[in-house]
Amino acid sequence: MGVVLALETSCDETAAAIVRDGRQVLSSKLVSQTGIHRQYGGVVPEVAARYHLEDINQVIEETLAEAGLRANQLDAIACTNGPGLIGTLLVGLSAAKALSWSWGLPLITVDHLYSHVCANFLDTDLEPPFICLLVSGGHTQVMHFSDYQNWKILGQTLDDAAGEAFDKVARLLALGYPGGPAIDKTAKSGNPLAFRFPEGKVSGYDFSFSGLKTAVLRTVEKLPASPNSSESEGVSAQTADLAASFQDAVNRVLVKKTFKAMQEFGLNKVALAGGVAANSDLRRRFSEATEESAKSSSGSADGGKIKIYMPPIKYCTDNAAMVAAGAHFAGTSVKLDATAYSRQLA
Ligand code: KG4
Ligand code: ZN
Repeated sequence: MGVVLALETSCDETAAAIVRDGRQVLSSKLVSQTGIHRQYGGVVPEVAARYHLEDINQVIEETLAEAGLRANQLDAIACTNGPGLIGTLLVGLSAAKALSWSWGLPLITVDHLYSHVCANFLDTDLEPPFICLLVSGGHTQVMHFSDYQNWKILGQTLDDAAGEAFDKVARLLALGYPGGPAIDKTAKSGNPLAFRFPEGKVSGYDFSFSGLKTAVLRTVEKLPASPNSSESEGVSAQTADLAASFQDAVNRVLVKKTFKAMQEFGLNKVALAGGVAANSDLRRRFSEATEESAKSSSGSADGGKIKIYMPPIKYCTDNAAMVAAGAHFAGTSVKLDATAYSRQLA
């Protein structure tokens, strides 16, 4: 598809990027609204849409400048059209339509979740078949990619998404917003064995995290001191232990089921995608699993060795480079009457 300028506005990051052939990132820029939504403890859709509108033109200009390209050197305009917040998606889609029309370039739309997976193609040699663990704020899925355009969801969460669980437990422990990075940081000084939280007992490749969240709540209620009682002096040791133990329970089951899928399908490539893929403990576990497999397959000339793909942190959370890659590998060519959707398509 050549050189694609992509836009991403599905939630609270206003992002633009230029990528060649779905692999080579020429530039990637974003403005994050995290600081704005912090005061509300979550993303306020209407507020997010207004800020996207304010920032999008500037982000596009900076992206072109960083790549050192002009409009006539682009081959297509792409954007995410769902799932996400409908008001924010429409800002990106409208901007993409305007650019496509005024520059006379094809308009491509792409699914946000598929784009998260495609972050793994950026500046790597990953090719299907592979297993992907997609863990974001709204989704938790183990996926089998037999080809770039063909994938099957082997299992998913039956209730809360992993990212949602991180965010809710962070709120419970008064760790602030956004919750995932706060738990990640706090857990570093905690003991993951201090509390034994249950893994959701769900068969196959499905997950359940709402019981775990309730287990943390019940534990906190029974503790003599509330976890945020020493907030003024920083996070207490007990809170760090709770965060570490919760994180351990989530990541344990994520890694277990992902590696089980890899074995069942006889594959040796696994990719990690979505905002929770930025979690340092999850990344460590994936790396350790590769080292383990390297040890056990040493001696065999093959390549039974597992290869792990984990995008750099900036391409795990929402960004537009992944959208440009998604558009290249499985985008849909659309006209100016294209619309956005808020929920995952069946
Ligand atoms: O993929 P993403 O940026 O947006 C969605 O498409 O949902 O994911 C956002 C989610 C949030 O729940 C956030 O708390 C979580 O990813 N997250 C993390 C970390 N960084 C972001 N969760 C755990 N550890 C992190 N370091
Ligand atoms: Zn996302």
